[in-house]
Amino acid sequence: MAEVGVAMAGTATETSTGALYGRFVGPLLSTDAGSDAEQLSQLTLTALGQASLRRHWPLVSGALEGLAGQLQRRDPRLELSLFGCRFANPVGLAAGFDKNAVAAGIWHCFGFGFAELGTVTWQPQAGNPRPRLFRLAAERAALNRMGFNNSGAQAVRRTLERQQLPSPGQRPAVLGINLGKSKLTSLELAPDDYAASLEVLAPLADYAVVNVSSPNTPGLRDLQEETLLRRLVERLRRLPGCPPLLVKIAPDLEDDAIDAIARMAYEEGLAGVIAVNTSLSRLGLEQRRLAQTGRTLAEEAGGLSGAPLRGRALEVLRRLRATAGPALPLIGVGGIDSPQVAWERISAGASLVQLYTGWIYEGPDLVPRILEGLQHQLDVHGLPHIGAAVGCGLPWQA
Ligand SMILES: Cc1cc2nc3c(=O)[nH]c(=O)nc-3n(C[C@H](O)[C@H](O)[C@H](O)COP(=O)(O)O)c2cc1C
Repeated sequence: MAEVGVAMAGTATETSTGALYGRFVGPLLSTDAGSDAEQLSQLTLTALGQASLRRHWPLVSGALEGLAGQLQRRDPRLELSLFGCRFANPVGLAAGFDKNAVAAGIWHCFGFGFAELGTVTWQPQAGNPRPRLFRLAAERAALNRMGFNNSGAQAVRRTLERQQLPSPGQRPAVLGINLGKSKLTSLELAPDDYAASLEVLAPLADYAVVNVSSPNTPGLRDLQEETLLRRLVERLRRLPGCPPLLVKIAPDLEDDAIDAIARMAYEEGLAGVIAVNTSLSRLGLEQRRLAQTGRTLAEEAGGLSGAPLRGRALEVLRRLRATAGPALPLIGVGGIDSPQVAWERISAGASLVQLYTGWIYEGPDLVPRILEGLQHQLDVHGLPHIGAAVGCGLPWQA
């Protein structure tokens, strides 16, 4: 049976999906401790996982078509081809939401042009003790120290196979797989650990990401050091069938280190760089207390995401663009929660953008809102397609 089809373009007004989300989920997200953040995500993913497995059943397929009809915005001007992948639009789901790839078959129904699955490690991991995900509702932010909880590369492969996805290149949304180092593997053996995961998952991935930037696996960020990163990337690229390879970096790097990665990525012919992961800096929220623990953010471990990360994420992106030039594709992520912010990132040099924390707070309507906002900017600036907007430096115009 054909993949769930794409329906008409709707309007920027609230969809019924958005209204339901606002009514039932919104209140749960409006306070820090109103509901357990991780439990809520897990519940959602369980439901989405079942829907993905059964997406060809008439009832499920009907519901997904309805969802797609509301949230997708088909427009050839928003399509783009990058590192051999064809994206229906430049807005993607960031890594960490669908860690075990359970809903890989249906992310396009939410309007996304691509979804990044994982982080997946070679060994199955339980992650850090709970609570490990905290909402900072007033700041539209989150703190997490999940620690790469995932079922391991081999199980994730089986999960993907069970969903009987179309082959890479044939999918309604591009699927990237984000890879991390298993906690028990030393830095010395990290290249073999990543390589084992990639060997198992490469046939199912449109692209792969070397995640060397999660703050919650001790020592992982050391792999951002130029020599170590080059060794890691070279090891992975030697694997037969290695998909286009990107590197995801931290917002906490010094300028020199960002420059070194940009140059390395360019020289090694990497498919791109993803900027940024969550931050170890507290970005002005040092004294903010977590409702669940009573401790301040300065005292808590974990990475900060959402609105407070926005400024730094943009700075890092700009730096990468200035050093690597327009030939190296960049993916912008961090604090994107409106069409304006998405445009600003693309205008500064991101070919694609990803959403996580903003999507949770704003709800599913954020994707069509962003897509419509991008269409509008193309109109007002007289640009023919979204590729022409990448790095154009033009401001958002109402
Ligand atoms: C709960 C949570 C879990 C995350 N897990 C991962 C992960 O497994 N791998 C990864 O590369 N990034 C992970 N991220 C980082 C996001 O992909 C993204 O880079 C970051 O949150 C900044 O984007 P945002 O401000 O839109 O959330 C996670 C973020 C959150 C909030």
